[in-house]
Amino acid sequence: MEQIKIELTKNPKQKPTDQGSLGFGKIFTDHMFVMNYDKGEGWHNPRIVPFGPFELSPAAMCLHYGQEVFEGMKAYKNADGKTLLFRPEKNMARLNVSNERLCIPQVDEAFCVEAIKKLVEIEEPWIPTAEGTSLYLRPFIFATDAAVGVHPAHHLTFAVICSPVGAYYPEGLNPVRIYVEQNYVRAVRGGMGFTKTAGNYAASLKAQDESEKLGYTQVLWLDGVERKYIEEVGTMNVFFIIDNKIITPSLQGSILSGITRMSSIELLRSWGYEVEERHLSIDEVAKAYDDGKLQEAFGSGTAAVISPIGELKWGDKVMSINNGEIGEITQKLYDNLTGIQWGKIEDTMGWTVEV
Ligand code: COI
Repeated sequence: MEQIKIELTKNPKQKPTDQGSLGFGKIFTDHMFVMNYDKGEGWHNPRIVPFGPFELSPAAMCLHYGQEVFEGMKAYKNADGKTLLFRPEKNMARLNVSNERLCIPQVDEAFCVEAIKKLVEIEEPWIPTAEGTSLYLRPFIFATDAAVGVHPAHHLTFAVICSPVGAYYPEGLNPVRIYVEQNYVRAVRGGMGFTKTAGNYAASLKAQDESEKLGYTQVLWLDGVERKYIEEVGTMNVFFIIDNKIITPSLQGSILSGITRMSSIELLRSWGYEVEERHLSIDEVAKAYDDGKLQEAFGSGTAAVISPIGELKWGDKVMSINNGEIGEITQKLYDNLTGIQWGKIEDTMGWTVEV
């Protein structure tokens, strides 16, 4: 791969002064990474340039048929001022899994990790340091062919933009209320549910909007065939603790293979907890609730981190979990995972990568 060209901005933006009110994904840094794909030439012209608009034909295929994939990752600043990434190679591997499903040419994973490191190094002054903050990184690829026939693109753009962020949910680490969706479905096996592609999120908007109007933070998706088995929460994977066993839906093609999910399972198992990856029906969760055996529930995701679930509403049934408070295991997982990410505790798993 060619050397990354670097063009620094002549008009640096004002950085946020109040790190307590960053919210999520509203502010963008001074630079972005870009490279292009053209059939016959492969991925080329890698560059870091000032953050700014793309020039795009109104006929660009991504606008019409959604040939797009993305990733979500974070850069953290530790107490010694070092910048850390969390398992970036896993994000790039997953990007290629999404690429394969969407007929997008594979990227060189190691090169992309290096490009992201370089971008983060340049944007280092933008990494917030307040408790619970980080620099969110959004790699994405979109099809740019000016053609409205439906076929895989021959021209694509890969970009990475950066955003200083706080908590994804306004609730922060306070438990969220989740609505079990019975009307709409997100994905079915054989579809694209396992990929990070725009269409999966477009499919979630209506249900998300309706549940928000009812006072819920997110919806819990059930499988699209039997409308029975728990899938994910759209912006996070989900875990339930029932009768001292930790259960999370297995990866069967319709849910995202979360890197925070994978890391949570690895950490929990390393502490000796039993973690089952399997089919879990909403009836089983409701029965466990009725029997007093539903102890904790939480979501996991890059943006959401570890997010306790305080209430589940399934039809007329309202399940208040752990009295609406964060559970012991959820708290331990949050503390240890974020401890590793922010470099506050020793990374015995070898997950963090210094920039
Ligand atoms: C992430 O957790 O990074 C995501 O991509 C989820 C979401 C913000 C769409």
